[in-house]
Amino acid sequence: MVEKSIRIALCLLCFILCHSFSAVAAAPDQNTQLKDDAEDSFSMDPVLLHDRIKYNMRKSLDLDDDGCYLQPGKKESIEECGFNTTVKTILIIHGWTMSGMFESWMHKLVAAVQRRESEANVVVVDWLGLAHQLYPDAVNHTHRVGQSIATLLDWLQEEVQLQLEDVHMIGYSLGAHVAGYAGTFVKGIGRITGLDPAGPMFEGAESHKRLSPDDADFVDVLHTYSRGALGFSIGIQEPIGHIDIYPNGGDVQPGCSLGDVLSTAAAGNFVEVMKCEHERAVHLFVDSLMNKDHMSYAFQCTGPDRFKKGICLSCRKNRCNSIGYNAKKMRKRRNFSKMYLKTRADTPFGGYHYQMKMHVFDRKSADDADPTFYVKLYGSHNDTDNLSVEIADGVGLNLTNTFLVFTEEDIGDLLKISLRWEGPSDSWSSVLKHLKSSFWSWSSSQNKKVLEVRRIRVKAGETQKKFTFCAAKTEISPGQEVTFLKCRDGWEVKPRKRLHY
Ligand SMILES: *[C@@H]1O[C@H](CO)[C@@H](O)[C@H](O)[C@H]1NC(C)=O
Ligand SMILES: *[C@@H]1O[C@H](CO)[C@@H](O)[C@H](O)[C@H]1NC(C)=O
Ligand SMILES: *[C@@H]1O[C@H](CO)[C@@H](O)[C@H](O)[C@H]1NC(C)=O
Ligand SMILES: *[C@@H]1O[C@H](CO)[C@@H](O)[C@H](O)[C@H]1NC(C)=O
Ligand SMILES: *[C@@H]1O[C@H](CO)[C@@H](O)[C@H](O)[C@H]1NC(C)=O
Ligand SMILES: *[C@@H]1O[C@H](CO)[C@@H](O)[C@H](O)[C@H]1NC(C)=O
Repeated sequence: MVEKSIRIALCLLCFILCHSFSAVAAAPDQNTQLKDDAEDSFSMDPVLLHDRIKYNMRKSLDLDDDGCYLQPGKKESIEECGFNTTVKTILIIHGWTMSGMFESWMHKLVAAVQRRESEANVVVVDWLGLAHQLYPDAVNHTHRVGQSIATLLDWLQEEVQLQLEDVHMIGYSLGAHVAGYAGTFVKGIGRITGLDPAGPMFEGAESHKRLSPDDADFVDVLHTYSRGALGFSIGIQEPIGHIDIYPNGGDVQPGCSLGDVLSTAAAGNFVEVMKCEHERAVHLFVDSLMNKDHMSYAFQCTGPDRFKKGICLSCRKNRCNSIGYNAKKMRKRRNFSKMYLKTRADTPFGGYHYQMKMHVFDRKSADDADPTFYVKLYGSHNDTDNLSVEIADGVGLNLTNTFLVFTEEDIGDLLKISLRWEGPSDSWSSVLKHLKSSFWSWSSSQNKKVLEVRRIRVKAGETQKKFTFCAAKTEISPGQEVTFLKCRDGWEVKPRKRLHY
């Protein structure tokens, strides 16, 4: 485990150093310009700085169309660009760049925003020249880019009475902290969305030196690469908004498979994997813009482990929220709220969460059973595959076990559940397990292990509906299956025992 962490850390360092270097030593024709950049960073005067930050207002869905540039101080540019003060203004801010060019996600995000908000003023904040530098220098520039954005907003407020509460800034990686600085310099911005805000040099920083809840009325953050190694993570790990959503625990994203690549392949692929996980925040946001009728919900929880147990699927008192663009503004609270969900590997990313509870009775010789359970859900539209029941410390006997089941497909109304105990003949691992247990206790292995599950209680996260499923035959042994049919809406509420003193 430790060895793996060190490897990850070394790869991250290599990534930062290699690409910082390649940013400076890039294509020959860019060399001269980049040298200038390096000199500028020490003696940059504000006028020069303004020239390096461009506000590209997108005019049409045609991405080859250059759009129009808002130029603070030049009032004509407001009209030329057709800036409309009665509608929303959405600023999109990129992060540190290795190529010095917009990455492909930018086009996807701009197009999705324009489609969803066809009336809105969509402005791309282009600070590529200042972002295409050594990482620490780019970090250093975030402050001044934020200041420049604040100047733009002040100017628009003055010239055309821009309403700050109509402003929504969407910042990716370093861009999230740029938005944070902008919100520090101009108070009253409506919303800031941080898409996997950068971690290095921001983790643990004071709140005014990074994105924080003070920077806008509503600050929502998606964390998709918060996997730390030796105190170092590409995306920031700590919560920094009013709501902080950690899809898939905020670390390993499905479809990006770091594990496979680390063990087999070269650093090139490693960078791809990192990019995949870091950028996933953008794609989840794009998904939320495009799939309005299939929203994904995140659920407040104190940590990823409790979420994996299925404990946190409540929507009471604002404990759940839709993710991405559709997130509901929450009452400004002092405390941070960490929220979790599972997603699919590709768009549409949303799936369905179920909390399941079952009491497992130990009936006969099963105290050493350590059962491996699978469930299969049958719905009115479709059925799932066999889904493994993941319980961190193993199935507890004579106890009520709670677990989370995630389905990628909408199966409709849940009608039936089958529970299977993976038998000794099912797989090599259980054969080994069986051998091991029979080696240690010859006598008990002669007897058939029997457990009993009478009912499964289910809560659907997406609908918040509760059901109870009951079985006719309730005993289960290795290799067997028990079928549960819906027997009740809601959960049994046990009459509370009166205490007599
Ligand atoms: C601004 O937007 C509003 C609402 O969509 C629209 O009615 C109005 O005509 C627009 N104004 C200009 C100058 O485009
Ligand atoms: C940026 O770098 C300059 C020169 O090294 C330094 O004086 C300044 O304090 C830095 N700014 C920030 C915000 O770190
Ligand atoms: C907020 O967090 C602080 C410290 O983490 C804790 O003492 C306090 O009870 C929390 N308040 C609420 C309303 O949860
Ligand atoms: C579970 O309860 C049964 C009956 O009360 C008992 O025989 C069995 O030993 C218990 N098993 C465990 C693992 O506690
Ligand atoms: C049921 O789900 C499978 C994949 O699990 C999918 O291939 C199939 O199209 C689905 N059927 C319906 C009717 O949605
Ligand atoms: C699920 O488990 C059942 C029972 O063991 C088996 O017959 C079936 O083939 C499995 N289905 C899938 C998709 O693995």
